[in-house]
Amino acid sequence: MLANDHVDLTVAAGEIHALMGENGAGKSTLMSILYGLLRPDAGTIELAGREVSFDSPARAIAAGVGMVQQGFALFDSMSVVDNVVYGAEPTRRGLLDRRAATAAVRELIERHELRLRPGDRAGDLPVGSRQQVEILKLLYRQARVLVLDEPTAVLTPAEADRLFVVLRELAADGRTVLLVTHKLHEVTAVGEAVTVLRDGRVTMTAPTRGLDQGRLAAAMTGREVDLDRVYPPGRPGAEALTVRNLTVRRGDRRVLDDVSLTVRAGEIVGVAGVAGNGQTELVAAIAGLLPADGTVRLGERDVHALGVRERRAAGLAHVPEDRGEVGAAPTARLADNLAVGFHRRPPLLRRGLLRPEAVRDHAERIVTRFGVRAPGVSAPMRTLSGGNQQKAILGRELAQEAPVLVVEQPTRGVDIGAVVGIHTELVAYRDAGHAILLVSAELSEVLGLSDRVLVMYEGRVVAEFAKDEADAEAIGLAMAGVTAP
Ligand SMILES: Nc1ncnc2c1ncn2[C@@H]1O[C@H](COP(=O)(O)OP(=O)(O)OP(=O)(O)O)[C@@H](O)[C@H]1O
Ligand SMILES: [Mg+2]
Repeated sequence: MLANDHVDLTVAAGEIHALMGENGAGKSTLMSILYGLLRPDAGTIELAGREVSFDSPARAIAAGVGMVQQGFALFDSMSVVDNVVYGAEPTRRGLLDRRAATAAVRELIERHELRLRPGDRAGDLPVGSRQQVEILKLLYRQARVLVLDEPTAVLTPAEADRLFVVLRELAADGRTVLLVTHKLHEVTAVGEAVTVLRDGRVTMTAPTRGLDQGRLAAAMTGREVDLDRVYPPGRPGAEALTVRNLTVRRGDRRVLDDVSLTVRAGEIVGVAGVAGNGQTELVAAIAGLLPADGTVRLGERDVHALGVRERRAAGLAHVPEDRGEVGAAPTARLADNLAVGFHRRPPLLRRGLLRPEAVRDHAERIVTRFGVRAPGVSAPMRTLSGGNQQKAILGRELAQEAPVLVVEQPTRGVDIGAVVGIHTELVAYRDAGHAILLVSAELSEVLGLSDRVLVMYEGRVVAEFAKDEADAEAIGLAMAGVTAP
């Protein structure tokens, strides 16, 4: 298979260049080649007119190319300074010169107007700040070309805006920024030019000024994508998920504070909120991953005392926010990842043994239905592109046909064509009589899919909107903690 096929990409100094393409199109592969993580089989890279070849990230960095990868690589227990200088520490007589390190990092923070403090512990920082530490690492190593692979996927809109301010400033300073993103509005907001990859080939390179979004989508997918599809409302039936007074304490703080909600069969209830206002804890508490006070009922059954596995058996499917840590085993085969939840009963299990051909068939079905692009079902999960891992886990959970599905960030890292596919699947799942609790940081996703919208703020549900009265402005206010008296 060719992950990158005769790719030509030219980026000017001082330019922010966006890279788009479907999941598995080869974006991360291309960036990894630039950064010396992978070697190309053919082709060349030129930097400021000179041909270069990197056989390691260290070489790339020495030549001024730095990359922030999809997941971050910080030492949580270390300070901002220690993380930034790690591996490139200033020394005096062979010893770490802490004062010089702190001064250098402080100077960079001020020059680039980053909102960081040198002494803060990396593990205590919100995700947007952690990302700034990663950028700081590159600046400290004097990178002239910065490669960011889906940097905004895990950021709040406000954090993303702050990142863009930093990137524009770096570009104005003559640096080159290569930015991978799935979000059309970001391409036009921050990029001067965009290149689209499809099946490892460049299908389009254009300035972003006046760019038509439909044309961009077509270059990515090779077909028309209906970006403004409107979904009909559901027909709610009996209560399928009932949550009463759910409370989670962390220290003496209530991260989830007395939350009650119901989701009916045939209904999608959306949960909106700025990340970090208890949504993740709500989902984890319902799934049984996090101890909580209060009650959780699936249909008539009280499952509060049950663990994760028993809740699944009782009819709860769950797509976690972090597919890498909670949802999947990266080194295990795709087929085995897709067997989870099906492996204790027929047809996958027979006479106490897993049937390999049944495991494979089951995986093939999910892969086909959800358009998961993978080297094969026997390939390790981690060889799938980020968005394809997401599609696989979501497909596995939908295939459970559980009466209740709790799903967090279902389309994070997923390309725009696949987003439409996932939305269509979720609505079909609802219309088949299932209940869905949908937690998403994408307000448009919550608005587009939900029959009712709940807004969380500081651990509480502070507002509820019916589908026809839910508008972005009212929800935005509630998300900021402003509610009507
Ligand atoms: N180590 C590997 N072994 C085999 N195949 C791989 C490996 N790494 C990536 N691939 C394959 O190369 C192709 C391109 O993957 P890549 O990660 O570059 O996609 P991407 O454009 O970044 O997608 P996404 O938007 O989902 O992040 C995929 O089909 C992927 O499965
Ligand atoms: Mg990728």
